[in-house]
Amino acid sequence: MSVLEQLNQLRSEAEGEIVKASSQQEIDELWVRFFGRKAGELTTILRGVKDVPAEERPSVGKLANEVKAQIEELFKIQKERIYQDSLNERLASEKIDVTLPGVWNKPGRIHLLNATMRRIKEVFKGLGYSVVSGPEVETDYYNFEALNIPANHPSREMWDSFFLREGLLMRSQTSSNQIHVMEKQDPPVRIISPGKCYRRDSVDATHFWEFHQIEGLLVDEKVTFSDLKGTLELFAKGMFGSRRKTRFNPSYFPFTEPSAEVMVDCFVCEGKGCRVCKNSGWIEIMGSGMVHPHVLRNVGYDPEKYTGFAFGMGVERVAMLTYALDDIRVLFENDQRFLDQF
Ligand code: DAH
Repeated sequence: MSVLEQLNQLRSEAEGEIVKASSQQEIDELWVRFFGRKAGELTTILRGVKDVPAEERPSVGKLANEVKAQIEELFKIQKERIYQDSLNERLASEKIDVTLPGVWNKPGRIHLLNATMRRIKEVFKGLGYSVVSGPEVETDYYNFEALNIPANHPSREMWDSFFLREGLLMRSQTSSNQIHVMEKQDPPVRIISPGKCYRRDSVDATHFWEFHQIEGLLVDEKVTFSDLKGTLELFAKGMFGSRRKTRFNPSYFPFTEPSAEVMVDCFVCEGKGCRVCKNSGWIEIMGSGMVHPHVLRNVGYDPEKYTGFAFGMGVERVAMLTYALDDIRVLFENDQRFLDQF
């Protein structure tokens, strides 16, 4: 075949092939087939032009240049087409209809109980307390025995517990964490310990079988009842407002001696008497007392050298007072219509 024929044949082949290429990869492969440095079909023909007899060379050279330019043009057009096609495809697949109504994800929010717990923690952190947690499944020793509540002691009635197998129970008070903390460290101790507790209480407006407590414990040399009063007074003011007053009523807990109920003047009626304070002007917010020497001895502390105070409050109760709720169950039902109000 003469060079002219070869060129013409190559041109018609290129015309047929290039338009069929439908991807960048195919077009690149075709480019190599025609223009590849070593074995490209057109490259090979062009290389042979020098062997053409001198008189034919001008016409062959002219056609060769023409064919080369034409094929290059075909490549250019096809590349542009491939680019446009893929662009259109992407635009079609990524098209968004800005007139469609949006999907609204309701933002999450902090549950009332957690919000209450956070506030309590903040107040005590400000007083230099650290926050520790402990196990929800306890042994009789930590939940009772070490807290000076021996087996068969009548005060066990205060904690109607859920018992599990092998002497284990669901902790019925966070006071158990006092023991865990003191066993692990020497005085001074200054902690609060929030967590879930469980009791076999019948459910009513103020009782639920699962609830939260925050325990507090401070042990050091020369800690007195006035430290307890000062600390809890500061807490009451930090939590319920700087105008609040506190009162301490004698009470009984086996792990504290003396023990006291902490009362704060009613922040709803300012002490005048209302439904929330049951017309007494005062609201009980927690139990407290000076850590019993038996408890200190149980963890290996010397009660002659160290004294301390402890306190424990029900988070649900504080939340109910703060948000004026009259039924504890709303805190566990998680009804959106209720939660949305806060
Ligand atoms: N654990 C007690 C309860 O469940 C509350 C309590 C009272 C905790 C006095 C204390 C305390 O640390 O000193 O009713």
